[in-house]
Parts: sequence; C-alpha cells; structure tokens
Amino acid sequence: MQNSYKRVDAHLSSLGYCSRSEAKKFLNKVLVCINGVRIFDTTKKAYHNDITVENEALDAESLVILMNKPSGVVCSHEEENGVLIYSLLPERFQKRSIKISTVGRLDKDTTGAILLTDDGALNHKLTSPKSDISKIYEATLAQALRGDEAEIFLSGTLMLHGEKKPLLPAKMEIITPTLVRLEICEGRYHQVKRMFGAVSNKVVQLHRLNFGDFSVEDLEPSCYKIINL
Ligand code: URA
Repeated sequence: MQNSYKRVDAHLSSLGYCSRSEAKKFLNKVLVCINGVRIFDTTKKAYHNDITVENEALDAESLVILMNKPSGVVCSHEEENGVLIYSLLPERFQKRSIKISTVGRLDKDTTGAILLTDDGALNHKLTSPKSDISKIYEATLAQALRGDEAEIFLSGTLMLHGEKKPLLPAKMEIITPTLVRLEICEGRYHQVKRMFGAVSNKVVQLHRLNFGDFSVEDLEPSCYKIINL
C-alpha cells in the first residue's frame, strides 16, 4: 500500500477533498490533523497515513471499487453519452487528480459487477487479453434455447462476425429455456449479445454476477464497496 510523503495541500487535492487553491480555507473549516495534531499550514509535509480529516483516515491513495451497475448508466467519461457511471460515486472520488475508470465496460442496459480503479497498470492487467478472469453473466433470452448452444459455446470454435480468432470455450448453464448462466474468460465487444446472436437468439436482459472473485450478490443496484486486490 502506498504511503506517500508530501505537502498536505497536495494530499488533499490529489484525493479530491479540495483544490490546491482551496486548501487554506479547507483547513480553517475542516478538522485536519497530522498524528492527531490539528494543522492550519497547507505547506506542512506528512505521510498519507498520518493525516486525518474530521478524525477519519484519508481515502486510499489508490482505489479499487466494486459496483453493482444499474441499467441506464454508461461506462464512459464522455458527458454526451448519457448518465455516467462515475456520477454514482461520491463527489470527492470524482475530483481525484488521477481519474477513476471502469475496468472494461458493460453496455448501458447491462447490470451487475464492474470494477473501477485509478490504478492504470492494474486496469491494463485486468483487461489484457491474456488475463483469463472469469465473468459469469445471467442472460434472459428472447426465444427458448434450441438445444445446441451449450455445445457450440464450449467448443472453442465459435467465430463472431468480423473477428479473426474463435472464442475461447465458455460454459453455459441452463436455468430455464429462456434464462442461462454463461461463464466467459474474455471481454470482447458486446460478447454475450453477439454469442447469442450467432445462435439465432437475442439477449433481452443481461446481468453480470461476478468479476473474478468479486460478486455483487450483497450489493444493491448503484451501490459500491472499496475492495483490496
Ligand atoms: N457482453 C455484452 O454483450 N454486453 C455487456 O455489457 C457485457 C458482455
């Protein structure tokens, strides 16, 4: 875990508590302590772990968040695309100097488990085609299964339109004729919807139950928790 040593105003601004220029006012208004002693001098240097704000530890220097994404929000930083997933985070998290980004994306109408982090290297590692993290989706289908889907998905030979490589084997569990659980270890563009498109069906609802070891079973839609990876 990081524990950087720098000026208090640099800590506060990089973590989104206030801007550097607002730091003086912030210290006058809010109880900020170094090792329990209140400070008013923004230039004072300290270790991250020694600073408290209103008797609470500072937010972590690097964050990994698990969210249960609701339908209707977009995994994008572009305002024109609709309601952004980041607007569901506390304002302070949105003001951090290193932007928090989603680890991969879920479609606007897809719900469920998504990680968000400001750790670029970790994000890259988790989304790399080499990472074989299991993701389990629950898909509601427009039409009843025809019977050969599980075998096709498991074959490791299914080619999606416009792709050069077949999909890796994916396990499908049938819950009802129109509801399945599908476990995939890749993250290709609209992968689940395209897989069912390839077997003449259509996904009408899609929920991701987990991302690797992280499940959203205990998280209400739009809720999140900070996790340690
Ligand atoms: N596959 C899709 O088709 N959509 C998602 O949002 C995630 C996986």
